[in-house]
Amino acid sequence: MKPRLSIFLICLLFGIVAGAQAQSKTLVVKAGTPVAPIQPTMWGLFFEDINFAADGGIYAELVKNRSFEFYKPLMGWEKTGEEYVGQFQIINSQNENNPRHLRLESLQGKELGLINEGFRGMGVTAGEKYDFSVFVRQGMGISTLKVELIDSTGVVLGQTEVGGFSGDWKKYEAKLTSSATQSKAKLRVTLSGKGVLEIDMVSLFPENTWKNRKNGLRADLVQKLADMKPGFIRFPGGCIVEGHELETRYQWKKTVGNVENRQLNINRWNTEFPYRNAPDYFQSYGLGFFEYFLLAEDIGAEPLPILNCGMACQFNSCELVSLDALDPYIQDVLDLIEFANGATTSQWGKLRADMGHPEPFNLKMVGVGNEQWGTQYVDRLKIFMKVLNEKHPEIIFVGGSGPFSDGKDFDYLWKEMRELNVKMVDEHYYRSPEWFLQNTARYDSYDRKGPKVFAGEYAAHDKEGKDSESRNTWKSALAEAALMTGLERNADVVHMASYAPLFGNVDAWQWRPDLIWFDNLNTVATPNYYVQKLFSTNAGTELVSALVDGKPLTGQDSLYASATIDSETSELVVKMVNVAKKPAMLNISLEGRKIAGNEMNLQILTHADLTAYNRVGKPETIAPVEKKQKLSGKKMIFTLDALSLTVARIPLKK
Ligand code: AHR
Repeated sequence: MKPRLSIFLICLLFGIVAGAQAQSKTLVVKAGTPVAPIQPTMWGLFFEDINFAADGGIYAELVKNRSFEFYKPLMGWEKTGEEYVGQFQIINSQNENNPRHLRLESLQGKELGLINEGFRGMGVTAGEKYDFSVFVRQGMGISTLKVELIDSTGVVLGQTEVGGFSGDWKKYEAKLTSSATQSKAKLRVTLSGKGVLEIDMVSLFPENTWKNRKNGLRADLVQKLADMKPGFIRFPGGCIVEGHELETRYQWKKTVGNVENRQLNINRWNTEFPYRNAPDYFQSYGLGFFEYFLLAEDIGAEPLPILNCGMACQFNSCELVSLDALDPYIQDVLDLIEFANGATTSQWGKLRADMGHPEPFNLKMVGVGNEQWGTQYVDRLKIFMKVLNEKHPEIIFVGGSGPFSDGKDFDYLWKEMRELNVKMVDEHYYRSPEWFLQNTARYDSYDRKGPKVFAGEYAAHDKEGKDSESRNTWKSALAEAALMTGLERNADVVHMASYAPLFGNVDAWQWRPDLIWFDNLNTVATPNYYVQKLFSTNAGTELVSALVDGKPLTGQDSLYASATIDSETSELVVKMVNVAKKPAMLNISLEGRKIAGNEMNLQILTHADLTAYNRVGKPETIAPVEKKQKLSGKKMIFTLDALSLTVARIPLKK
């Protein structure tokens, strides 16, 4: 009985496999002949202060409008104590960068104070310590300031005080510990006694920031970035580089030096979308260019700053700097290179050293302009490139192809970039998942001798739902995975790629989908994040050819694939995407290298529902799983799950 059943089962199994093999495709991988190197920069990050990504996001400051410089000086603050017991005056001392401070006068010796609401509340954790600081000048009489962390109903969660004030401005610091975990806590500062006190830069940070740095970043959010092992980080955007008009463009020099002297700027996303207005969205620049460079260094990513090219956003004011007045803009680029790489004896290199980083940041790339188009961009870029290429031939200057993924303006800019001999061109595409699937062969026909491609902003835009995170569907992520096999297959011409935007605050976003969602206490890795992470942590070092019937897999039978060798670990890395609603068989036939060992590692990202997404409270609906699969011989048979991305790491003999 037993032997007969076994034979039956074996026959049945072979029957199935043979049947499936008859229909299945064979991917021939020439693992012995690398086609092109995979650039260490291949998979990276795009950071922009949109969706409260910086203030109210990765920048760990909990106090909103800490220096009373918002358009409405007391926005974010609520007065406590009745009017008749005291006065709250906003004083403008005409100091250029941080002109305003608050003067508190207690007339009757009763309690007088202020409550800060934070960025849609403050996230605090039970048992965690918080660093409070404030600049104070004593008018008369008041010797202490009570500092309390309170919950949304006013219950005190932690308290401390600062005191010993003098008639000169001085910074005072104290620590407090929260007794509870709350996402909507507030900060209350109160004076008692009769007299006058002036305050500025009221600040509260968690002690536990990324690497425990003062003026630091939210550790949980940076960890998500570090986990991706990104090849580069582009900053500070995006349209924020351009500004709504030139006056409010991003100027890096205003973001370095002492934090209290960094001049506040409106955030262009404050007013961009009437249906997502954010009147309290400003840039404190507490996260400025020095901190961006440090972040890049910490997470092992090449820094890629993008600077203004003398043009404000063409979707907004379209204000242009006249061609004969571009010098200060070009000088900004030159000075930035000095800030990042210059000797500590140089003006800007010295500032870097004074800020705590005498070693150079080793800047290798700078972008000039973001989403510009038309002759106005080309005319300006020509002037920039002439000076920049001459003074810094060692730097890769990145030009742009505008906001459109194709069409007349796009073609015009590409032609001009070739003529200008720009080394790398930034492309942006925010398109439907269907477009992504149709464009996996986009780069197959690109000129191999022209500028390299930087797919600097892309995301598949699916239908929107009620939850903030709802547009980050599995369908969008799967489509991106398919397109990314196309980017990887063209690694000889595509040198860098980054999903955009990076962060979205669930309570304060302007643009979605985004790669990582967060609230004051939680982070959510979207399915799109996991796709990016699977590619970036399995990049490999050399591209190898992987063909079915002599052609790349670009959607035949709903399958997409690319393959690389990881010379550091001696593995073949194959990425396979199945967008069909049923499993698919794919054979791999290995040529040129031999398999080592009898097991390979698979990382699989899959979900049966294309509309599924991850969200706060349910963050791991779609998350990768790891499996081992037996290996024998040089043929491998994969059963790819329906709607899945599979990354196989196959050990090779050296
Ligand atoms: O990523 C969001 C925005 O999209 C960027 O600021 C801009 O470059 C693009 O239009």
